[in-house]
Amino acid sequence: MRTLKIAGICGSLRKDSYNKKLLQAAADLLPEGMELLMVGFDTIPLYNEDLDTPNAIPPEIVTAFRTALADADGLLIVSPEYNYSIPGGLKNALDWASRGKESPLKGKPVSLMGATPGAWGTVRMQLAFLPFFRLFDMKLVMQPEILVAQVHTKFDEKGNFTDEMAKKFIRQNLENLKNQIKSLE
Ligand SMILES: Cc1cc2nc3c(=O)[nH]c(=O)nc-3n(C[C@H](O)[C@H](O)[C@H](O)COP(=O)(O)O)c2cc1C
Repeated sequence: MRTLKIAGICGSLRKDSYNKKLLQAAADLLPEGMELLMVGFDTIPLYNEDLDTPNAIPPEIVTAFRTALADADGLLIVSPEYNYSIPGGLKNALDWASRGKESPLKGKPVSLMGATPGAWGTVRMQLAFLPFFRLFDMKLVMQPEILVAQVHTKFDEKGNFTDEMAKKFIRQNLENLKNQIKSLE
């Protein structure tokens, strides 16, 4: 059986991002037969339709981002919540990826997770994503939800994620992502 490729996208650009660490922890919890390839968006310019016409050559970094998503069997987005919603940089990158008949987002299986030092575990960011996923008929893993609250208390001094209950749910979520992908083949 071939290895399923998962594009890992972190919604935070911060060097010591908790969400980046959670994405790395999720990589270690991937079921057999899946591999995670990190995909960045930090140098993607602000979306401008003038740069995105049939006659315009899109910025190289945008083409690379779209290709990385197109090559993936599924996406794993791990993101903070900014002001009760999706961080602007992440939304901007996904807006670039959303355009055209050949959008790599169309019908794509996706897992969404989030971490915050706050109490609500990024629930509002995750709810804000639902209309976006719906528009592109993306196949969101609905359960179990991965909402990591008070994340600053959940890494040890070596950077290991220590929340065993959350790890169990993350493993199950990724198993469900694998099944979601396989059900579409
Ligand atoms: C612009 C901005 C808006 C924020 N809004 C929220 C919010 O709505 N809900 C929340 O739980 N945390 C919010 N936070 C706090 C973030 O959860 C916290 O900074 C977190 O560590 C960011 O994720 P990271 O560690 O992966 O960079 C916000 C932070 C910033 C910078």
